[in-house]
Amino acid sequence: MPEIMDRIKEANRAVTTGIDDSAVKHWVTVYIMGKGYRVPADITIMQAMEYAGYRFVRGAGCRAGFCGACATVYRTAGDWRLKTALACQTRVEDGMFLVQIPFTPAEKPSYDITKESLDGTPLLKYFPEVARCVACNTCTKACPQDLEVMDAIQAALRGDLEEVTELSFDCIQCGLCAMRCPAEITHYHVAQLARRLYGRALPVPQHVLARVEEIEAGKYEEGFQKLLSMSREELYKKEQREKGGLATRDASRVTRNGQGEG
Ligand code: SF4
Ligand code: SF4
Ligand code: FES
Repeated sequence: MPEIMDRIKEANRAVTTGIDDSAVKHWVTVYIMGKGYRVPADITIMQAMEYAGYRFVRGAGCRAGFCGACATVYRTAGDWRLKTALACQTRVEDGMFLVQIPFTPAEKPSYDITKESLDGTPLLKYFPEVARCVACNTCTKACPQDLEVMDAIQAALRGDLEEVTELSFDCIQCGLCAMRCPAEITHYHVAQLARRLYGRALPVPQHVLARVEEIEAGKYEEGFQKLLSMSREELYKKEQREKGGLATRDASRVTRNGQGEG
C-alpha cells in the first residue's frame, strides 16, 4: 500500500505542479484515439489525456465522478472485452486503447409531467422499446456507477416506479448503458421519467412546505435584495470565497478515498 500511495503522489505531482519527467519513475503506454503516448502511471484517464496534450472542451465537467460527462470506452491489450469507465475516476493501465464518448445521441420525448398519469403507463407510452429488453445484462456491466440497470428496466416494464427510482437514484446520465444496449433503450431517460412520476406521486414533504411558507412570508427578502444590489465584482468575489470553501471540503473527501485529484 505505501508503494502505491507513493506512485499516486508522484503521478499527481507530474500533472498538478507542472511536468517534470525526470521526477516520474513509473510510466505506462496508452493509446488515445489510436495514437500511442507514454504517460505517468497511476494518473486518471482524464489526466493522461491532458498530459498527452488533449484539451477537454466537451467531455469533462465535475472531474469528480458526479456529472457523467467523461464516458470512456476502452480495451486492454490481450483482452477481448470492450470496457467502459469514467475518465475522471479510472486510472490508466499499460496498453489501454481509449476513446472518449462525451455525448450519447438519444431520442428524448417531450412530455408535460403534470398531465401524465402517476403510474407506470407513461413509461411504456414514451419508451415502448423497453419491451424489447432481452435481459442480457450488458447495461449493468457497462454502468460505471455499478447500478443494477437491467433490473431497473425490468421494473419499468412492470410499471414499478418506486423500484426504478430506488435502482436508478445514483444514475449520472453518462449514457454508457445506452451505448451498449442491443435493444437500443435509453435507460437514463426511462429512469428519469420514472423518478419524476414517482416524485409527483409522493406528498410534498413538510420541510418543503415550511420553506415555501417562509419565502412567501418574506423571511429571505432582505438577503435577496442585498444580492440584487451587489455589483458584478462583489458577486464575483463572493462566489470565489464560496468556491474556496467548497474546494477545501472537496480536497478532504479526495484525500480520504485515495483517488488523488480527479
Ligand atoms: S442491455 Fe438492453 S437488452 Fe440488455 S438487459 Fe440491458 S436493457 Fe435489456
Ligand atoms: S445507468 Fe446508464 S447512464 Fe446511468 S450511470 Fe449507469 S451507465 Fe451511466
Ligand atoms: S468529469 Fe464529471 S463524472 Fe467525470
